Amino acid sequence: MSKEFDVVVIGAGPGGYIAAIRAAQLGKTVACIDEWKDPKNGAAAPGGTCTNVGCIPSKALLQSSEHYEQAKLHFGDHGISLKDLKIDAGKMVDRKNAVVRQNNDGILYLFKKNKISFFHGRGSFVKASAAGYEIKVIGKDAETLVGKTVIVATGSNPRALPGVEFDEKLVLSNTGALDLKAVPKKLVLVGAGVIGLEMGSVWRRLGSEVTVLEGMPTFLPAVDEQVAKEALKVFTKQGLKIELSAKISEVKPGKKGVSIAYTDAKGAAQKLDVDHVIVSIGRVANTIGLNPEAVGLKLDDRGAIVVDDQCRTNLPNVWAIGDVVRGPMLAHKAEEEGVAVAERIAGQHGHVNFNTIPFVIYTSPELAWVGQTEQELKKAGVAYKSGTFPFLANGRARAMGDTTGFVKILADAKTDEVLGVHIIGPMASELIAEAVMAMEFKASSEDIARICHAHPSLSESTKEAALAVDKRTLNF
Ligand code: FAD
Ligand code: NAI
Repeated sequence: MSKEFDVVVIGAGPGGYIAAIRAAQLGKTVACIDEWKDPKNGAAAPGGTCTNVGCIPSKALLQSSEHYEQAKLHFGDHGISLKDLKIDAGKMVDRKNAVVRQNNDGILYLFKKNKISFFHGRGSFVKASAAGYEIKVIGKDAETLVGKTVIVATGSNPRALPGVEFDEKLVLSNTGALDLKAVPKKLVLVGAGVIGLEMGSVWRRLGSEVTVLEGMPTFLPAVDEQVAKEALKVFTKQGLKIELSAKISEVKPGKKGVSIAYTDAKGAAQKLDVDHVIVSIGRVANTIGLNPEAVGLKLDDRGAIVVDDQCRTNLPNVWAIGDVVRGPMLAHKAEEEGVAVAERIAGQHGHVNFNTIPFVIYTSPELAWVGQTEQELKKAGVAYKSGTFPFLANGRARAMGDTTGFVKILADAKTDEVLGVHIIGPMASELIAEAVMAMEFKASSEDIARICHAHPSLSESTKEAALAVDKRTLNF
């Protein structure tokens, strides 16, 4: 006997578990299947990449390493002295694991609260029938389910360098990079993208000699050029060695470490011997074990599930969301799609605005942006005005002792509508929310400039950048 549900969600990452909750809120009977296992004891560990080996654990380690660096380099400025400062990387990783488990348990609690039936195992399409789609759960909660509607949210996996497998001991993906129990002496990161910079920062702060080898000639090409330039300057000054136009020719794991051969920007052959290499060159959509062929679910040539702008697949009543479909691979994008799809299934008008999805890189300083960059506006021939305000002139940033960076607002030259906001500086991840709200409400830069911002706060820099668009900053 199979169990029938209005909605079966495959995958309990931020896309899947949020879709399941929203569908249950809207009165649907919901099952959610997820195969992730707690590495400690094999227990169900819902939350996907984000919770287990992504957003949450990386932010936990970024926080710990930031505390360490603050204590080492900046506490003295505040008159605080410390003797024998030490880092216990094992304990730091244990704390990270505890934070992850709290989040896994939180999701299991939310499933119960919302009366969602959770199945721990791998979900695999069997066939389509008059009743819906038959899905076999393979694993601890082995069962056959039938869903009138199915939401696929199976996420993504790290991309490997051709011919170089992840052993998670010497050649690491994000999984191994987040689980090092001792601070490596030397580390190479391949790819100066989000993971390269965040994980590179963690281990550099703790004392590793970190080299980041980036294949492209441009640093962070998707980021506003002014912000990317400042970021490269600051990260280099902090001690991250970032090499652009690096072409990897060989990655050879040995007994104790890894040897990496590459040609540098000048075409010269180079070799590095390090303790570990972290490969962070992007991610690929995951449909392993899903058995999409059984029902004729269409994938594109990169393995992502093909969907329209509303997340409908080629099959009736089968939807797909998050990293397994097109668009930025971000947890909040997956969540937004999850809510929108659940609402569409319930006959409502779910919506996701791709133009106002914020991006954040959680380095120190943080980078955060929304909307178009200056180079994109130039390329599109849009007439724009620009206003910039440095944190150096912000009272709160001075009091915090964290004055690197600036807020930059780009607005339409004629209408003054905000077209993009780009921040490098302290708490940029929090400051960007105001910009997203402004753009979602189609605010002008004058609207932001007229809003009363608390003093002293970092957010005053956003107001001042808006004033700068009209060339009338008050504090700079
Ligand atoms: P996932 O989170 O990958 O979840 C998919 C789930 O489906 C997994 O639990 C998997 O086990 C399960 N699954 C797959 N196939 C099956 C099957 N057949 N049956 C049952 N279960 C299955 N994004 C941000 O927005 N902010 C960040 O700070 C951030 N930091 C990151 C840091 C790192 C190191 C990494 C790697 C990623 C980070 N991301 C971040 C990206 C973010 O993790 C992803 O965009 C997000 O997790 C995608 O959500 P998802 O629900 O689509 O897929
Ligand atoms: P990424 O796409 O951010 O960066 C990959 C980098 O590797 C690029 O700069 C690319 O040019 C480079 N590259 C590709 N092939 C290469 C090669 N052979 N040699 C050298 N360099 C090469 O991907 P990343 O950092 O792996 O992250 C994966 C995903 O996870 C991203 O899509 C990101 O959105 C998400 N993520 C988000 C975070 C956040 O929101 N704060 C944090 C971490 C990850």
